[in-house]
Amino acid sequence: MERIYIKNTPENVGEEVKVNGWVGTRRDHGKLIFIDFVDATGVLQVVFTPANKEVLKIANTLRTNDSIEITGEIKDRPEDMVNDEIETGKIELKANSLVILNSSDTPPFELDQDGRDVNEEVRLKYRYLDLKRSRLQKNIKMRHEVFRFLRNLLSEEGFIEIETPLLTKATPEGARDYVVPSRLQKGKFYALPQAPQQFKQLLMVSGFEKYFQFAKCLRDEDTRGDRQPEFTQLDMEMSFVGREGAMALNEKLMIDMVKKLYPEKKIKEVPFPRISYKDAIEKYGTDRPDLRENEEDELAFCWIVDFPFFEKDKNDKWTFTHNPFSAAIPESEKDLMEKKNIEGIIAAQYDIVLNGFEIGGGSIRNHNPKALKAVLEIIGHSEENIEKDFGHMLKALEFGAPPHGGIAFGMDRLIAILQNEPNIREVIAFPKTGDGRDLMVDAPAEISDEQLKELGIKINKQ
Ligand code: AMO
Repeated sequence: MERIYIKNTPENVGEEVKVNGWVGTRRDHGKLIFIDFVDATGVLQVVFTPANKEVLKIANTLRTNDSIEITGEIKDRPEDMVNDEIETGKIELKANSLVILNSSDTPPFELDQDGRDVNEEVRLKYRYLDLKRSRLQKNIKMRHEVFRFLRNLLSEEGFIEIETPLLTKATPEGARDYVVPSRLQKGKFYALPQAPQQFKQLLMVSGFEKYFQFAKCLRDEDTRGDRQPEFTQLDMEMSFVGREGAMALNEKLMIDMVKKLYPEKKIKEVPFPRISYKDAIEKYGTDRPDLRENEEDELAFCWIVDFPFFEKDKNDKWTFTHNPFSAAIPESEKDLMEKKNIEGIIAAQYDIVLNGFEIGGGSIRNHNPKALKAVLEIIGHSEENIEKDFGHMLKALEFGAPPHGGIAFGMDRLIAILQNEPNIREVIAFPKTGDGRDLMVDAPAEISDEQLKELGIKINKQ
């Protein structure tokens, strides 16, 4: 007999079926044993009766989380036992045979609760079990639905999904790099990408015109509720597009996705309000204002635009506020090229904010190599450094690079908000702790002396 999934059991009333899954909870009622039986698609009540004594005897040994196979008959439940809250609430499976495929140790915490009161370190150590709770199952499945929707919509709009390297060279996105030592080029290091920014721009030079990717980004910064050392961006770039075109497409993407996947949620204002950086700071004291007025299911999107391109760092030197590859708005182009009125130069940057969180950011880029060079000079790069670190970008822009721009959404943040979760760890299958550890596999970890030797690395334990 072929195994069927729990979601299909209501179509099989009166029939003999085989199911595979796990024991949820067990309830002994005198001579009867009931279990909540779970697979990836749902939960089903199974009843073991004295009609089959052998089977009842095995059922008596069942423990939470044992993995089992049952055959039996799908029956309508007695009227007074119907449960309208679950999809299989009108039926139950009367077991005829039971095989324990693998028994389970006692899980370190309850799996049939939301887990919010369990110590998070324990949850993360046993993440593979923590993920079994229905709250996390829903989060991860909705994450998949959001990814699928966006991937399909972008593909329909003519975007091509292209992967870019993880072993690469430092790209300045404002955080510290994670580095990987090279065995073959001793003493040299790859940097893991903080974002695929340079590659996506280079793909525009290659003529792909519309690119996207769900990209892993790695940034060595202090983590918090909305920050992880590795996180996922929906990264996009388009050619021959201006700020309006880029913002319009991304606004449509968000609206269509919410309508399709979160119909119970209400977008507060369409088109999304646009607020200049200056107004946001003056009016809300932040560049990620929470514009919600009502309860839980409100989504208040807004765009923040007209950011200053440069700011002074703690050493009183100019640095970029977002991204050195951004263009200036047309009104500021002259100042940028002449490197004057620097504090007044406005970047063609747009951030998208949802319920007080920055869920994305992008800009129109400098496709003119002279303008990119001017940015690098303003932030104090020497001629030599510019050639060494950005020579490939400057060169590429000299080969008919089209005007282009794009954006990256922080998918973890977006999904956490849509799922009403207070932090992004709840929507990432295997997140890290606040101090960047994976408690399940115990990373980061030391490596062997042999590996160190092969890499030509000496550890200074101080
Ligand atoms: P930016 O650095 O603003 O832009 O990143 C884009 C979005 O990614 C999310 N994000 C994070 N999410 C979780 N943990 C983190 N540590 C983290 N850091 C950032 C945020 C943010 O808005 N290359 C540019 C994009 C572009 O210009 O196209 C970039 O990476 O939601």
